[in-house]
Amino acid sequence: MCGIVGYVGGQSALDVVLAGLKRLEYRGYDSAGVAVLADGGLAAAKKAGKLANLEKELADRPLPAGSTAIGHTRWATHGGPTDENAHPHLDNAGRVSVVHNGIIENFAALRTELAERGHTLASETDTEVVAHLLAECYSSCGELAEAMRQVCRRLEGAFTLVAVHADEPDVVVGARRNSPLVVGVGDGEAFLASDVAAFIAHTREAIELGQDQVVEARRDGVTVTDFDGAPADVREYHVDWDASAAEKGGYDYFMLKEIAEQPKAVADTLLGRIDASGVLSLDEVRIPPEVLREVDKVVIVACGTAYHAGMIAKYAIEHWTRIPCETELASEFRYRDPILDRRTLVIAISQSGETMDTLMALRHAREQGAKVLAICNTNGSTIPRESDAVLYTHAGPEVAVASTKAFLTQLVACYLVALYVAQVRGTKWGDEIRAVVRELAAIGTQVEQVLGTMEPVRELARSLADKNTVLFLGRHVGYPVALEGALKLKELAYMHAEGFAAGELKHGPIALIEDDLPVVVVVPSPRGRSVLHDKIVSNIQEIRARGARTIVIAEEGDEAVVPYADHLVRIPHTPVLLQPLVSTVPLQVFACELATARGNEVDQPRNLAKSVTVE
Ligand code: F6R
Repeated sequence: MCGIVGYVGGQSALDVVLAGLKRLEYRGYDSAGVAVLADGGLAAAKKAGKLANLEKELADRPLPAGSTAIGHTRWATHGGPTDENAHPHLDNAGRVSVVHNGIIENFAALRTELAERGHTLASETDTEVVAHLLAECYSSCGELAEAMRQVCRRLEGAFTLVAVHADEPDVVVGARRNSPLVVGVGDGEAFLASDVAAFIAHTREAIELGQDQVVEARRDGVTVTDFDGAPADVREYHVDWDASAAEKGGYDYFMLKEIAEQPKAVADTLLGRIDASGVLSLDEVRIPPEVLREVDKVVIVACGTAYHAGMIAKYAIEHWTRIPCETELASEFRYRDPILDRRTLVIAISQSGETMDTLMALRHAREQGAKVLAICNTNGSTIPRESDAVLYTHAGPEVAVASTKAFLTQLVACYLVALYVAQVRGTKWGDEIRAVVRELAAIGTQVEQVLGTMEPVRELARSLADKNTVLFLGRHVGYPVALEGALKLKELAYMHAEGFAAGELKHGPIALIEDDLPVVVVVPSPRGRSVLHDKIVSNIQEIRARGARTIVIAEEGDEAVVPYADHLVRIPHTPVLLQPLVSTVPLQVFACELATARGNEVDQPRNLAKSVTVE
């Protein structure tokens, strides 16, 4: 949430920062702003609304050119999305400027204190106090990095801060606690940003900042300390994707590109993890086999789409490993005093690796002695760094706010973990699992096949653009898929959409069915567990008898559903537990097309932001 960029170097700093903000706009688009150090002073511009509003403002009233600048794209927390509340914030003398991501929990007390000392605060934000505190500390210590350390020691909550001071024209200072900040090191230039996407066009050499650290970036290098000024250890890494991975590449929306990338993304997640004889080697899972053999409970924590991946993983883990598994919303987890100990394996699933709810859940789990394995897409992010082990999904950057390829790759990673644990423990490791491993290794081809048949789904979506409600039903692993289909539709098309376990229908939701109400039904394979299949065919008949317009997603060759399907979407046969990898894809395409037909912004749905770094 909120995108931050800082730059110091030989290029036009404003151009670099604006280009970086464009790549970070997925993190929030309530307002945008920049500040540049030029001519011995500091000049700033900020505007409510999308970055385009700021660009227009800068075209009408250009700022002076300079080689040091900071910028911000905001997802509003404290204070509405107005020009005044937009970042950067300045002190009263206009010498220091700061941008912030996160929430400063003690800002009210600090604000009162500053007001008593004669400061005038112009916005309703929690951030502005930092600009004023930095100015005060700077006037006594005369060094921006030291002023930042002093201020950070006084702040409570989560924050990434990036600041500049007119008296230090070649320095950008950043700090982080519970919120992301990465450093890009170029030739005679340095970058600070919420995400490497902001500087990948300039350098692929990055430094991962640890918790409670302050970085001072100059043209000739960076210095990192803790909040007390002691030199800090940092991890340097090379970003293994290039700038084109974060471009639309000819697609109208990032979401369309990311849906299309799914066959490659799942193949990349599998790469090098299953050998030719079907043996899994997950070297990254540094939890020793003897510890995995001792595990007596698995708990999965995640949010939103990642939570749906976790719900599916529960079916796979319990079936293949016979270890009891619970999946829980990360935002609820630590507040209910969960029972965990050193024999509990907690799996934290997160695309961004920065979701605050998931981070807090994993910290709680580790405090209770549980081992935490992260399934994550973002190298160097906080969740993997704080976990005992990590399995990266290798989906490449996901820019669209609605998660698609990250979901499929999270599923693949969950299957790999479940199969690996089964392999280590020797549980049920027989023909069924061998067959699943074989089919999983080839799943990219089936996802490709689904993508090639989506035109009727797009056409159907366009025909439903004026509907108010769509329901989704599923059983077994089809139930989380139904929830995911509904979530996609809510967030993209702004329609009332709900997912239900089909068996629950008769316990209430069937009252919602009325004439011509579109109901999407995800049908399990008739081959694997035909009892499930038969039950859902009955559910389809029940809703159709009450007037529903049935949109049925069923395997090729499943003839039993044909008489009851007003619209039939075919998917290839997969083992029962792997079906979500193919059945989710039509639901993504459906939501994307419906959103487009309703004139919505597909990549940046209203009120949302990718990477939710506040609780
Ligand atoms: C929905 C979506 C969100 C995220 C959720 C968790 O399309 O993208 O529901 O899945 O905010 O985010 P991560 O995976 O980054 O922890």
